[in-house]
Amino acid sequence: MLHITLTATSLDETARIAKVVAGELRPRDVLLLTGDLGAGKTTFTKALCAALGITDAVTSPTFTLVHEYVGSRLTVVHSDLYRLERTGELDDLGLDDARRRGAVLVVEWGDLVLDAFDDALVIAFAHADGDSRRVTVSWRGSGWEARFVRLSERLQAGAHP
Ligand SMILES: Nc1ncnc2c1ncn2[C@@H]1O[C@H](COP(=O)(O)OP(=O)(O)OP(=O)(O)O)[C@@H](O)[C@H]1O
Ligand SMILES: [Mg+2]
Repeated sequence: MLHITLTATSLDETARIAKVVAGELRPRDVLLLTGDLGAGKTTFTKALCAALGITDAVTSPTFTLVHEYVGSRLTVVHSDLYRLERTGELDDLGLDDARRRGAVLVVEWGDLVLDAFDDALVIAFAHADGDSRRVTVSWRGSGWEARFVRLSERLQAGAHP
């Protein structure tokens, strides 16, 4: 299977999806979050961090571009590339270094760096009916290929019909 699409009609459903994804994460994983302004990327990241036992307030790293949160099992490096002016700036963000240290990278506007990561879970958020969001989870690279069947089963299992 190449992707799974879910509908999040509430923040609770986004949180459930984030919790399932959190349960599959390992050090050095990369999550690329895509979607327009307000599509739900930061909301997802907050729920993901909460599911990883991170008690710090998770806020959008809009100006600093990167925030780091230490959880009990994993460290999350949360980046928002909206204000990235040149892709060259990416090298200054320390994402590669964070990954070498074992952090999980969560990147908002991840479509800007799709080509920089050949192994990543890609989560696309889109506005749907009313206040709901369409959430499409796909992957690239062998690291996620092996895990994606189980992940998609778990995502599907708790989804509303
Ligand atoms: N599943 C959902 N159901 C209803 N509302 C949602 C859902 N997900 C997010 N929202 C709401 O959408 C608004 C924007 O969400 P959020 O800040 O996460 O978007 P974003 O993609 O990070 O935006 P930006 O592009 O500005 O970084 C918030 O008010 C949030 O509560
Ligand atoms: Mg955001």
